[in-house]
Amino acid sequence: MNPPPNFSPLARLYRWMEYFTFGPFLQFTRTAFLRRLTRSRRALVLGDGDGRFTARLLRANSAIQIDAVDSSSSMLAALTRRAGPQASRIRTHLADIRFWQPLGILESPGARAHSAAPLVLYDLVATHFFLDCLSTAEVAALAARLRPALAPSALWVVSEFAIPPGWQGSLIARPLIKCLYLSFGLLTGLAVRALPGHSSALRAAGFTLLNRRSRLAGILVSELWSAGPLHPASTAAEP
Ligand SMILES: C[S@@+](CC[C@H](N)C(=O)[O-])C[C@H]1O[C@@H](n2cnc3c(N)ncnc32)[C@H](O)[C@@H]1O
Repeated sequence: MNPPPNFSPLARLYRWMEYFTFGPFLQFTRTAFLRRLTRSRRALVLGDGDGRFTARLLRANSAIQIDAVDSSSSMLAALTRRAGPQASRIRTHLADIRFWQPLGILESPGARAHSAAPLVLYDLVATHFFLDCLSTAEVAALAARLRPALAPSALWVVSEFAIPPGWQGSLIARPLIKCLYLSFGLLTGLAVRALPGHSSALRAAGFTLLNRRSRLAGILVSELWSAGPLHPASTAAEP
């Protein structure tokens, strides 16, 4: 398996690179469903980079506690700085998400059944422009691993690039996304070269798409997924 990409050298520049290329549109995409997240209490924020979504979520929801996972220490430091006084509600985890185990399911199922303490489940997962750092198989494994650590009411917000049908897809989105992958491959060592099929991976793990909005002629999408009840079939992919 390839090592995770190294985004640390980009941590301070990242925001400016984004504004220069996409203006405010990526941030609009990240925050599209923010108002639907005000009831969440325990969030898992994966690969949030310099933490612009995390900071907005903390401001919008004064009760939320966040576990933020990223393989870059500089990105996690930037995320914590950006949260300011709200940083006490964040726990950071420096880890490659492909191997990270959600904290709520560290105990064995037997230990859980006999424990008096209730198992705390996450009720929100956020991945903004992060699943595109993984292959389809890695997204599928991640979704199956996270699913038992999520409450039935849990939401998963996703922001991603997409290739819309028609000329916008073939003439704009496809070359643009290829260019982004080449650039990040050179700058961070990212080995992935194509968008994963994250929708099929999430569906296979039992998630249901509730809402989808797109911007820039369908090149940027915001999605809201629901975990729903845990069926035995949705954990079948777990090792
Ligand atoms: C493309 S940036 C996206 C940052 C931010 N979410 C945004 O919306 O711009 C990807 C982030 O995910 C982190 N990352 C990439 N691969 C990872 C992995 N396998 N495990 C954990 N973090 C990873 C990077 O360090 C970086 O902070």
